[in-house]
Amino acid sequence: MSERAQFATKMGVIAASVGSAVGLGNIWRFPYEAGMHGGGAFISIYILCVILLGIPVIIAEFIIGRSTHKNANSAIKTLAPGSKFRFLSYIGIIASTMILSFYSVVAGWIAEYLFLSITGSLNGHTPQEYSEIFSSLVGNPWRSLIWTYLFLGANFLILRKGIQKGIERISNLLMPLLFILLIVFSINSLLLPKATEGLKFMFMPDFSQVSPGMVVGAMGQAFFSLSLGLTCLLTYASYFSNKTPLVRSATIIALLDTCVAVLAGVIIFPAVFSFGAEPTAGPKLVFEVLPNIFQQMPGGYFWSLAFFVLLFFASVTSTISMSEIFITFFTEEHNMSRKKATWLNTIIAIVFGSLCALSFNVLGDIKLFDKNIFDLFDYVSSNILLPAGGFLLAIFVGWIMDKKVVKEQLTNNGTLNVKLMKPIIFCIKYIAPAAIALIFLYVIGLFKHIEALFI
Ligand code: PFF
Repeated sequence: MSERAQFATKMGVIAASVGSAVGLGNIWRFPYEAGMHGGGAFISIYILCVILLGIPVIIAEFIIGRSTHKNANSAIKTLAPGSKFRFLSYIGIIASTMILSFYSVVAGWIAEYLFLSITGSLNGHTPQEYSEIFSSLVGNPWRSLIWTYLFLGANFLILRKGIQKGIERISNLLMPLLFILLIVFSINSLLLPKATEGLKFMFMPDFSQVSPGMVVGAMGQAFFSLSLGLTCLLTYASYFSNKTPLVRSATIIALLDTCVAVLAGVIIFPAVFSFGAEPTAGPKLVFEVLPNIFQQMPGGYFWSLAFFVLLFFASVTSTISMSEIFITFFTEEHNMSRKKATWLNTIIAIVFGSLCALSFNVLGDIKLFDKNIFDLFDYVSSNILLPAGGFLLAIFVGWIMDKKVVKEQLTNNGTLNVKLMKPIIFCIKYIAPAAIALIFLYVIGLFKHIEALFI
């Protein structure tokens, strides 16, 4: 087998994983999910999920990937020969392809907003007009399709350049810039007339609003935002060097990712209330609200341009990591050439991405469980497949893998002193799988049936 590439620097490891984690999940999905589920209570449960489920499962993925330096399928075959846990790699391939499909549609919207920013036509409108600009984009099948395809084309080109050069260079350069820009925007939003209302909505939880839908939504959002449960971070960790500190890297990734999501909320919610938008608007929320913010800032043209350029790249660094799951599997397990695997991944995403893009217009009437195709792809992958993957990953590392290997990985062969080793192993073994299972049971309504038995 040929020598696999490794990330060149310690920063490269973190930057590429953060590049995967930080993307539309933080800036587009987090604010709209929080908005739809009442704000503060959702955000509190979300943060709890990041700490109790997110970090332990990131560590679990890192342990499997780094201990074997192999893709998910071979890694599990190596660690537990003959084990059924190999199915994890199928969850990864199905979930990553579903996510890539609807994600590319949203990234296509970003690309069109970038284009509108360049031509200056995103400037100087009323809130009502911004809402119409977005509706006319998603309502037009050709426009949505073309932008989705352009985005997938960009993703394809970057992938063809290979792992180290493509991913590492882009992530290293742009992530810090995006972070700085978000800080500037959040300061601007805090100065808006109804900033306090927005902050109250985010940070004063009303726990009477907690519902099964909200809890599973917060868990799904945590997995989605951290790129977790679908062996993406496992694949990245297979390129880590033996010196990468796993626990510290996992914590930094979760922390940075959560900071970006919270910053996005601090940007969006004061603006939602100040510009008279509805927090419950759903997927269109940020597209309707953000242009209002840029427009009232001095130098709005420049800010919107910078923002959409950076968000475009943040989306690409996320989609490359989704594609990488698919490509690594087919090149390493099925001897496919990298070129062929990249083509196959792109073609599948074009087919399903088209269905997702068309579900806002010509296929709008096709609904299953009251969801259009786009929402269904999103719901099934984020709220079901990723937590199910996370459950299996935690069980695998906590119960199946050799404890000695787990400890060696956590401590880099005894060279690191990991103070929280016991609590971390406890979370991987008990807390994370139990919490995921309980949330699923809560959603299925099992608790209600049990309650009914006693009343
Ligand atoms: N974490 C990414 C985001 O928040 O935008 C989305 C994502 C990337 C999900 C990679 C899954 C994945 F494998």
